Amino acid sequence: MSESRDTIQFVLNDKIVTVDFNAHPELKPTTTVLNYLRSFPFHKGVKEGCAEGDCGACTVVIAENQEGKLRYKTIDSCLVFLPMIHGKQLITVESLADKDVLHPVQQEMVNHNGSQCGYCTPGIVMSLFGLYKNHHKPEREVIEDALTGNLCRCTGYKPIIKAAEHACSCMDTDKFKLHEKKICNLLDEINRDRSPLEIETSAQKYYKPLKLADALAIRNKFPCALIISGATDSALRQTKKHEILSEILDISDVSELKYFVEDQQGYKIGAGLSLENLKSLSVEKLPAIHQTLKIFGSLQIRNLATLGGNIGSASPIGDMLPLMLAYKAKVKLQSVTFDRTIRMDEFIKGYRSTNLRPNELISAVHIPKPEPGTIIRSYKVSKRKDLDISTVSGGFSLRLENGTVKEIILAFGGMADMPKRATDTEKHLVGKPWTRPNVEYAMKILAGEFSPLSDARAGSEYRNLVARNLLLKFYAETTSGL
Ligand SMILES: Cc1cc2nc3c(=O)[nH]c(=O)nc-3n(C[C@H](O)[C@H](O)[C@H](O)COP(=O)(O)OP(=O)(O)OC[C@H]3O[C@@H](n4cnc5c(N)ncnc54)[C@H](O)[C@@H]3O)c2cc1C
Ligand code: FES
Ligand code: FES
Repeated sequence: MSESRDTIQFVLNDKIVTVDFNAHPELKPTTTVLNYLRSFPFHKGVKEGCAEGDCGACTVVIAENQEGKLRYKTIDSCLVFLPMIHGKQLITVESLADKDVLHPVQQEMVNHNGSQCGYCTPGIVMSLFGLYKNHHKPEREVIEDALTGNLCRCTGYKPIIKAAEHACSCMDTDKFKLHEKKICNLLDEINRDRSPLEIETSAQKYYKPLKLADALAIRNKFPCALIISGATDSALRQTKKHEILSEILDISDVSELKYFVEDQQGYKIGAGLSLENLKSLSVEKLPAIHQTLKIFGSLQIRNLATLGGNIGSASPIGDMLPLMLAYKAKVKLQSVTFDRTIRMDEFIKGYRSTNLRPNELISAVHIPKPEPGTIIRSYKVSKRKDLDISTVSGGFSLRLENGTVKEIILAFGGMADMPKRATDTEKHLVGKPWTRPNVEYAMKILAGEFSPLSDARAGSEYRNLVARNLLLKFYAETTSGL
């Protein structure tokens, strides 16, 4: 393994900061960026609303040097551990103005009376800043998406959207553009040695490799270390459950896990690819994935979260899993000595339980090209359209031959302790004409296939009804040319 370092460095606004966890016992490798910032008197703009990625009050922007250009991403700082920003620029709301001149997004918030209670406004401004740096004259849909992760309880979105439209209608000539080269140089200085992190404090060990081989070696040596990729699921163990995570393997900077490749057989998606990148890359090739990701969490969450993390969490309501079953996806698992590629239904074993061996990492997901004529759709029913987890979800695939069902996959989330196919219903439908009476009969079979839980999200009866109606909706959509 390459030589490692035990301190982290990042550019806080425009200055390199070094954190030595052993010299500063008040900071832990799992201190969140939010708590780190709020420990300073001059960084109180960032707020804690929920500490679980829901409210956006903690939004900050991270910039990375990609071939001499800074790439900006909004993230929820409450879900990000300090070592995750090693080698990056952390931009906070205090640094947006250029001396006494407000940043265009701040000025437009003033012009349109967009600032309301002050608790959410700094996070909203940072989301607008991320939008400004990434989009010129964005469509309304893009603006709304950028603000999905920022809850405002006083319903003041209209002036905020107006502020976004006006700020992003001008060319990007802000001070960040002016100082881009300087920041890139600072980031190069930090990243020059490309050393993996190996931080050991009295209570915690935090490993952050940069190469897949190193990640596998650490996994082999420390099989109990918690793997984190985007940490949008795992960070909650510390921020909400207050667990001390004693050993962490952070694979968020392993670039070999961030790819999307198409070949003749299908698509290979690196486990570390962020869901936001997957959303952009799947528009034409895998449209059902794109549709699902349009209503997955928020931009702040998707900028961090990965496909490997969604599969690895094996949540019964993970949005990608039913869809992966519908796409007949396979999971590539790698260890130091051995690789294997298994079907998604072999990988998920039960409630938040998988077939991952103690020395393995999920390295990729392989999706075969669907047979010509196959229709694949995904559905998500939740209490809110945006930034909510599913009550019931469906990933369905259908191939007809002369109006008769040749192949059908009906995979559901939220109906059992893990994402599951309705195999009896599928068997009943295969070989039958795809007609409403046949689908209505299949809905009766479906009613008996699952015994979903009643919980705070929904009752068992409701879930069953939704599942049946999703099948009917699928039928309606596949026969009405939608
Ligand atoms: C506010 C909020 C909104 C959310 N909205 C949604 C939503 O709409 N739909 C949805 O499905 N989920 C949602 N989630 C849950 C979560 O964001 C997703 O499951 C996400 O895909 C997890 O990815 P991650 O990279 O952040 O995973 P992490 O938190 O890093 O990891 C999750 C699990 O997978 C394991 N793991 C990660 N990578 C690997 C790997 N390469 N190999 C082996 N194991 C691995 C980890 O050990 C851990 O057990 C939401 C979460 C939050 C906080
Ligand atoms: S504090 Fe609410 S999203 Fe971070
Ligand atoms: S800006 Fe805080 S509730 Fe609306």
